[in-house]
Amino acid sequence: MRAYEIRSGGIDGLALVERARPQPGPGEVLVRIAAVSLNYRDLAILRDPLARGIALPRVPCSDGAGEVLAVGPGVTRVQPGDRVISCFFQAWTAGPIGPEAMASALGGPIDGVLAEEVVLREGGVTLAPSHLDFTEAATLPCAALTAWHALVESGRLRPGETVLCLGTGGVSLFALQIARLVGAQPILVSSSPAKLERIADLGAAATVDRSTRPDWEKAVLELTRGRGVDHVVEVGGGGTLARSIEATRIGGHVALIGILAGGAVDPTPIMRKSIRLQGIYVGSRAMQEAMVRAFEAAELRPVVHRWFRFEEAPDAFRALERAEHVGKIVIEL
Ligand SMILES: NC(=O)c1ccc[n+]([C@@H]2O[C@H](COP(=O)([O-])OP(=O)(O)OC[C@H]3O[C@@H](n4cnc5c(N)ncnc54)[C@H](OP(=O)(O)O)[C@@H]3O)[C@@H](O)[C@H]2O)c1
Repeated sequence: MRAYEIRSGGIDGLALVERARPQPGPGEVLVRIAAVSLNYRDLAILRDPLARGIALPRVPCSDGAGEVLAVGPGVTRVQPGDRVISCFFQAWTAGPIGPEAMASALGGPIDGVLAEEVVLREGGVTLAPSHLDFTEAATLPCAALTAWHALVESGRLRPGETVLCLGTGGVSLFALQIARLVGAQPILVSSSPAKLERIADLGAAATVDRSTRPDWEKAVLELTRGRGVDHVVEVGGGGTLARSIEATRIGGHVALIGILAGGAVDPTPIMRKSIRLQGIYVGSRAMQEAMVRAFEAAELRPVVHRWFRFEEAPDAFRALERAEHVGKIVIEL
């Protein structure tokens, strides 16, 4: 059975190796992986695994979809033949996150899913949405669930509310689609008119091209008649947060998710505007199950930018690094 291992820092540190076929123990399931989607986090880990305290070699990636081949003793939740997707955290069933969950993130503290066959915990998978093929279903565990957690679980998003989405990457496009699913009004800011063109039919209430409007927070205020948005899905972090807060209504909600823009934050405007700033770390299995039900009911389909073959995984990471993608990059096995 072939798997990728991170052997050292950088995309060139990724090695395709032969590993023994894993066997499911009690409470575990063996999954033949059919597709893996990439997240910015996978790239960040690959660039500098030691800075994140990752022991090497490590199988990367959190997001896989495939078929259950066998189950270990005592498994009742799934059976051979089931189509499943991984849970980012193997040990976060429901409720608030805790240290045990944090230590169970695939492709970080434990081996991930960029392999032909993987053993996951019985509670570390959910059924894949029935309307999606494996390449689509593989995009859900990290990016989609993070957006779902931010807006639906933590944000309690309501119809008619406004949602600011930054960029056209994985998390942001799911945030746009989830906002639409709920009947809310997504406003999306992108660096590129060409990328905005590509998402024209995705249902944004308005878009802002930040290449011509570097003061995009003012454009967002204009679009909301000076009031500001109800929710922000903040993937930029310290480098974009000040603008995001300016674009948020008094008493609004900012879900702090990403680190794309680096930078530091002045906390004063958060206090002055009574902003609810909530850190989000992917989500629990219960949240994933709720999201899968909602996506099935709405027949929501993810935006997949490009597919790569398993042997081309390093090229898939290079494509993610170029940041020319709109939506998700997927590796098909
Ligand atoms: N906390 C969590 O649980 C969690 C979960 C998932 C992801 N994340 C984080 O969220 C971020 C996004 O992840 P992803 O996988 O969705 O990334 P991605 O697919 O690589 O998206 C990157 C896109 O974000 C936009 N962007 C880049 N730099 C920006 C900046 N300075 N200001 C505004 N927009 C910028 C660009 O879109 P345009 O060119 O269209 O502007 C870029 O193509 C990452 O930092 C990731 O680590 C966190």
